[in-house]
Amino acid sequence: MRTQVGIIGAGPAGLLLSHLLHLRGIESVVLERRSREYVERRVRAGVLEQGTVDTLVEAGVGERLKREGLPHHGIELRYGGAGHRIAFERLVPGRSITVYGQQEVVKDLIAARLAAGGDVRFEVDDVALHDIDTDRPYLTFGGERLDCDVIAGCDGFHGVSRASIPEGVLTEYRRDYPFAWLGILARVKPSSEELIYARTERGFALHSMRSPEISRFYLQVAPDEDLEAWPDERIWAELRARLETVPGFTLATGDIVERGITPMRGFVAEPMQHGRLFLAGDAAHIVPPTGAKGLNLAVADVRVLTEALARFFADGSTEALDGYSRACLPRVWRAQHFSWWMTTLLHTFESDDAYARRLQTSYLDYVTSSEAAGTTLAENYVGLPYEEETS
Ligand code: FAD
Ligand code: PHB
Repeated sequence: MRTQVGIIGAGPAGLLLSHLLHLRGIESVVLERRSREYVERRVRAGVLEQGTVDTLVEAGVGERLKREGLPHHGIELRYGGAGHRIAFERLVPGRSITVYGQQEVVKDLIAARLAAGGDVRFEVDDVALHDIDTDRPYLTFGGERLDCDVIAGCDGFHGVSRASIPEGVLTEYRRDYPFAWLGILARVKPSSEELIYARTERGFALHSMRSPEISRFYLQVAPDEDLEAWPDERIWAELRARLETVPGFTLATGDIVERGITPMRGFVAEPMQHGRLFLAGDAAHIVPPTGAKGLNLAVADVRVLTEALARFFADGSTEALDGYSRACLPRVWRAQHFSWWMTTLLHTFESDDAYARRLQTSYLDYVTSSEAAGTTLAENYVGLPYEEETS
């Protein structure tokens, strides 16, 4: 078997890459370890930047997103007994975010690939990469061989692609946080129209949503927290304790339909490429979810990679491909910093003393009262424009 681009992973990065390449007349095969049902049900991100929405709409996969996505023009920072709105419409006029589940994006992309006759294979075992240092790389899986011109590693943080790069090539940067997020999806009308990021002495909590009937919540918990220790009543009691901190706010509760614990870390591997292998999305970098940047970064990588591959397949020039990592990394590091900053601003660190807590409050007061500081948060949150990385 042969294809132009062998793509490992059918998450948002791999599927969008396959779709965008198809629109440019470039063939690909996507190899995914899990079942279609599994990837379509995996609950993760929910906040799409304006640029991500525009990318999906322009690529013809935004029909349902436009219909069912919830546009948001602000978020609330809740601390010290009061809520403070970060108003996007005032601070970054014309820019907003859309709340739409990652698994919905994945469903829409799979449907589009299959409708166009795309080759997406699920439940593929033992994917291995070979000869990535040469111009004839290939993949093997389940006794088959796929020859490619280029391989795209879109297989997430725990995938095989990054691990296949020879030792000594990559420099890895990482930051592990001393806490995790316990996330739930519940069948209940959201108690707020906008997302609430709450900082309390008990730890951080986030109120998000998926639809007018489904809410999404996160709680800061210990890094080694056991999900079994959190029966429904304990989850709701803790969410109430961390969110019902302003007068008149009552949290509506309902059936919990999904739950999970996510470790919090920042990670970047540089460069995001080696030979004919190109890493995109979580395979190359991850961020703590506080800034809602992971999925959006995956989309930004894929845009750059699509352009570079289009040039390569048009006239054989490798200039853009050679510059892939260099083009992506400024945005990757901006998102690392923003995610670290949001995380530091809003979480409880056991190592913090009273002085550090005062500094945290002072910074929150600044962000919620100064136009300049509020704009810093808002412009990063809604997403920086793409043009910057093409220069
Ligand atoms: P993934 O979605 O991880 O996809 C990789 C795919 O590769 C998977 O389907 C996997 O099964 C497959 N794979 C792995 N290994 C192999 C192999 N050996 N062979 C074949 N296939 C393989 N981001 C945001 O932008 N906004 C948010 O609001 C947000 N919230 C989040 C909340 C949580 C709780 C979590 C966990 C993440 C959140 N993120 C958020 C991050 C976002 O979900 C990820 O950044 C995003 O999934 C990255 O997409 P990806 O395609 O690069 O990787
Ligand atoms: C989500 O809705 O899943 C979500 C929202 C905002 C974040 C992280 C996750 O910062």
